[in-house]
Amino acid sequence: MAKTKTQFLCQNCGTVHNRWAGKCDGCGEWNTIVEEDPMGGIGGGPGRAPKKGRAVALTTLSGETEEAPRVFTGISELDRATGGGFVRGSAVLIGGDPGIGKSTLLMQAAAALSRKGHRIIYVSGEEAVAQVRLRAQRLGAADSDVLLAAETNVEDILATISEGKRPDLVIIDSIQTLWSDTADSAPGTVTQVRTGVQAMIRFAKQTGAAMVLVGHVTKEGQIAGPRVVEHMVDAVLYFEGDRGHHYRILRTVKNRFGPTDEIGVFEMSDKGLRDVSNPSELFLGERNAKSPGAAVFAGMEGTRPVLVEVQALVAATSLGTPRRAVVGWDSSRLAMILAVLEAHCGVKLGQHDVYLNVAGGYRISEPAADMAIASALVSSLAGAALPPDCVFFGEISLSGAVRPVSQTAQRLKEAEKLGFASAMLPATSAELPKSGNARWTMIEDLPDLVSRIARSGRKLGKDHQNAGEDD
Ligand code: TYD
Ligand code: MG
Repeated sequence: MAKTKTQFLCQNCGTVHNRWAGKCDGCGEWNTIVEEDPMGGIGGGPGRAPKKGRAVALTTLSGETEEAPRVFTGISELDRATGGGFVRGSAVLIGGDPGIGKSTLLMQAAAALSRKGHRIIYVSGEEAVAQVRLRAQRLGAADSDVLLAAETNVEDILATISEGKRPDLVIIDSIQTLWSDTADSAPGTVTQVRTGVQAMIRFAKQTGAAMVLVGHVTKEGQIAGPRVVEHMVDAVLYFEGDRGHHYRILRTVKNRFGPTDEIGVFEMSDKGLRDVSNPSELFLGERNAKSPGAAVFAGMEGTRPVLVEVQALVAATSLGTPRRAVVGWDSSRLAMILAVLEAHCGVKLGQHDVYLNVAGGYRISEPAADMAIASALVSSLAGAALPPDCVFFGEISLSGAVRPVSQTAQRLKEAEKLGFASAMLPATSAELPKSGNARWTMIEDLPDLVSRIARSGRKLGKDHQNAGEDD
């Protein structure tokens, strides 16, 4: 008899371990490893008689191709993030923290689609029918023809959605509640989640329905996170945002049918999520241009420019080891910029606490923000505000040189559109938009930037003094 052997699977990343351990080697998370039975589920595990394979026809790369057929939701930011609507026959994973608004967004999408005459099935594994109805009423979606079921068993769900006319879109909320009779592990474990998702993907591929899977990002390893199924689905979108702020960002991290660096921006309201077609205005909305330590970064999210304010506070420390706290930006990148400032510009921050915040709970992933961060740091240390109508972008290398970044012209155009009359940017061969009043300043290296900020700070300080003397 074949010996049954259990596996130890990390519930966060799915790494297989031979024995239990406190920390996962794969993702570095603690307490996420759980013993599971690999029998059943995908592939059925060992012990099954090998089946004789069937040869499939090989083909070439050239040949007829078709544009992927899509279902448009009409919610412009959602369509932007998915690359133009959900693709038929594909599976999309929408991940995010619990309570961030995934169910709300998908209910709105479902209602919008069903109003266009599509057949939409919403399978809720977390909320009872009455709760989903209440939400639909609140969102003004109750009058749409979305078909609803509260079910968690994979076989029952498949039987339900296979019945009748083929659905155009199926929403499974959430994958962590799915459980299948064929897998022996408890619901919420990696094996169960993968088995359930596999079955749903198979359904999508066979019938041509679009499948949307909701996955909660989990902090503790008690239930499997969405990362363990990322490789199986066609597109992965993460819904993110800060609980303290009223807008949400839908970020594409994988998309087999479209670009991956797009974002959709939504504003929360009591009536649900609203599209934000010009995110820069939102992120700069609460700006206080006169305070030192604030710099506006001209960033790009996919094809769309986004202006956002970065704020730095540099203060003398009373601790032996100064504090570095970062929100919305990579902390190791901050350490690098501090090191470059110290090594090449003589800006010493070893005796200072450094706090860095990206306004509005936005998260920057582009290295092009380096120059804005460095400017904010220097401005805060010097106690001099940066010119209020100036944007910054450019990547800083370890040698202190400022490196060019892509899409310079788009960044500058967006800045100009929003009333910024100057920019500090890397020297570039790209063609810059020509305009009457705007001043584009090419910065060669970080010392150049620091001396310019120091000079303009002095000038601003003088103007301020003069203004004070006048009255
Ligand atoms: P919900 O969609 O249930 O989050 P998730 O499915 O990701 O766990 O939303 C969480 C709560 O936030 C819910 O009580 C409704 C509320 N909410 C609003 O009131 N307005 C909104 O625009 C959004 C997105 C959520
Ligand atoms: Mg939900």
